[in-house]
Amino acid sequence: MRSNLLAFSIVASLGLAQVAHAAEGMWVPQQLPEIAGPLQKAGLKLSAEQLADLTGDPMGAVVALGGCTASFVSPQGLVVTNHHCAYGAIQLNSTAEKNLIKDGFNAPRTSDELSAGPNARVFVLDQITDVTTQAKAAIAAAGKDPLARTRALEAFDKSQVAACEADAGFRCRLYSFSGGNTYRLFRNLEIKDVRLVYAPPGSVGKFGGDIDNWMWPRHTGDFSFYRAYVGKDGKPAPFSADNVPYQPKHFLKFADQPLGADDFVMVAGYPGRTNRYALAGEFNETADWTYPTIARHYNAVLKLIEGAGKADADVKVKYAATAASLNNVAKNYAGQLEGFTRIDAAGQKQAEEAQVLAWLKQQGAAGKPALAAHAQLIKHLEAGRATRERDLFVGQFNNTAAVGSAITLYRLAIERSKPDAEREVGYQDRDLPTIEGSVRQMERRYVAKMDQQLQQYWLNQYVGLPAAQRDNAVLNQWLAGSDANAATALVGKLAGTQLGSLDERLKWFKADRAAFEASNDPVIQYAVAVMPELLKQEEQKKIREGESLLARPLYLQALADYKKSKGEFVYPDANLSLRITFGNVMGYQPKDGVAFTPFTTLEGVVAKETGADPFDSPKALLDAVKAKRYGGLEDQRIGSVPVNFLSNLDITGGNSGSPVLDAHGKLVGLAFDGNWESVSSNWVFDPIMTRMIAVDSRYMQWIMQEVAPAPELLKELDLAK
Ligand code: ARG
Repeated sequence: MRSNLLAFSIVASLGLAQVAHAAEGMWVPQQLPEIAGPLQKAGLKLSAEQLADLTGDPMGAVVALGGCTASFVSPQGLVVTNHHCAYGAIQLNSTAEKNLIKDGFNAPRTSDELSAGPNARVFVLDQITDVTTQAKAAIAAAGKDPLARTRALEAFDKSQVAACEADAGFRCRLYSFSGGNTYRLFRNLEIKDVRLVYAPPGSVGKFGGDIDNWMWPRHTGDFSFYRAYVGKDGKPAPFSADNVPYQPKHFLKFADQPLGADDFVMVAGYPGRTNRYALAGEFNETADWTYPTIARHYNAVLKLIEGAGKADADVKVKYAATAASLNNVAKNYAGQLEGFTRIDAAGQKQAEEAQVLAWLKQQGAAGKPALAAHAQLIKHLEAGRATRERDLFVGQFNNTAAVGSAITLYRLAIERSKPDAEREVGYQDRDLPTIEGSVRQMERRYVAKMDQQLQQYWLNQYVGLPAAQRDNAVLNQWLAGSDANAATALVGKLAGTQLGSLDERLKWFKADRAAFEASNDPVIQYAVAVMPELLKQEEQKKIREGESLLARPLYLQALADYKKSKGEFVYPDANLSLRITFGNVMGYQPKDGVAFTPFTTLEGVVAKETGADPFDSPKALLDAVKAKRYGGLEDQRIGSVPVNFLSNLDITGGNSGSPVLDAHGKLVGLAFDGNWESVSSNWVFDPIMTRMIAVDSRYMQWIMQEVAPAPELLKELDLAK
């Protein structure tokens, strides 16, 4: 693994030794001044000031999709993201007969583009406001009662968001950083008409499928294009045939210089969640119970879906997106567990925490509040343990499609009877379009008999619990027994529901509370019966949160102070807000004697060919590679067109689709995955093996040129030859 060592020594010789590991760090934009030096030393040619302008070029081109990242790539609102990020939209537009998942899609004219679905969004950052002082004051004013504290923060959140959204077209969100040490309000333009422009065939976009997912060497063409639309007045508007393409202030240009090993790369995006500052006890709970348990059950559920899909093409298409995400999570957890063992994450966490506690004790009175906060957090952790199995099974059952929609719709009816500002977050007027969108898109993601199998699965787990844990009073009453037969009988009873019909769901979307309580639909009756228990649990959760609201920031501040005292940089855990990470293109050594190079090539795609899904490339691809038709996109250094590449950047789920920028801020690829050995870095960062996997922009271009041609798109991207 020469390039790895080489890159590390380059970094060291540039005097970066004080940065513990050049690539670790999901920096918040406010930290750009702090990392300006390291950025420049790693190879960035843009000025730090230019980068710090979040609504300027290039950062202003980076957008959030809600769970994924993307970027504008043309003045006409063209957006590039991962194929797996557009997968839901591709799936919504697919049927067994007209299957875009399999065949891909290209819209030569804008009139050919397809709606990406009612809930597809493009969020364009407009401004970030620090509201820490006000948020902390609101929490403090609530006094000693933990529930009152949570409610005070919620009320603060809602009032800030409402004021921020007073200008139509904006969506705002309050983010808590470092356990509540900083609060920032983000204002985004919310584009609501998003259309699918291009997706490669599934055998390119999801090449390697779930087998290659989280793995290197990789050969996936994980890219797709959307277009953002707004009303004729330029303001965001729901889907309408006469909307017009949004004209972004900035868009990225494809790189004009070839990317190579050791080159500087940078990613801006919206990573979802990391737990690097979690307590050792929280880590243990996850490693010993949560991850193995969830992975086991998701794999069992996947088998059910796979089996049903083999027998029924409709089930296969309707559950494709559901299955992909279950698989992605289950495999990620398995990878994390393997990584935890490899790096002795438990030992590392334990040792670090012991050092922090010892350091705090040394400080006498000054260290006492943080020590007390630590003890308090440990107590919360123990509280949920006794009921964790039950909570998982009942929670998953309540989350199956028909039951879940009844619970959401009934809750909406309850909340709707209150003034908007007093409603639970998620059920305010601003949330109605999303709820309606989910009600509608269930049409394309639901098959009654599959849903019933899933209900049965989770009920079977529940009835299999020891009697003491089988203590959900409502469910027990509905089950009328404590074995698999009782579960089957309940599923049979719930099968009488009308909620499988879109018209019916839309009717309930508008119905009032009394109508639900008078309904004789069995699933609605269940939702009505279970609601008091759900509300009670929600309140208990809020009490625990209210306790953490004081304890967590105190302890995390102490942890940050400790790290700073040792000369380490500190950045907050990922929380779905904008982050920047940078480093260099490099391979790694997965095990002794094995070196992975940083680039894969077209020939590598062909070498994986089996003729069967997921290694069944389009004939056009196989022919083009055989004829060495590189289309002018080959890189002499690797003797072919690069397909995917590795770099030591620090990303996680949510970063998918993030533009990878070169030293000049030009697009060289899209982040789409991490390697198997990297996933444990969500808890304990491993600088030796953590790599980001990106699809090379030259491969994207090659696919659009030679395999699934999109001449209009290439022209729009200014890539036409
Ligand atoms: N591992 C990727 C991520 O979390 C998702 C890849 C989706 N592909 C798949 N084969 N399930 O961003």
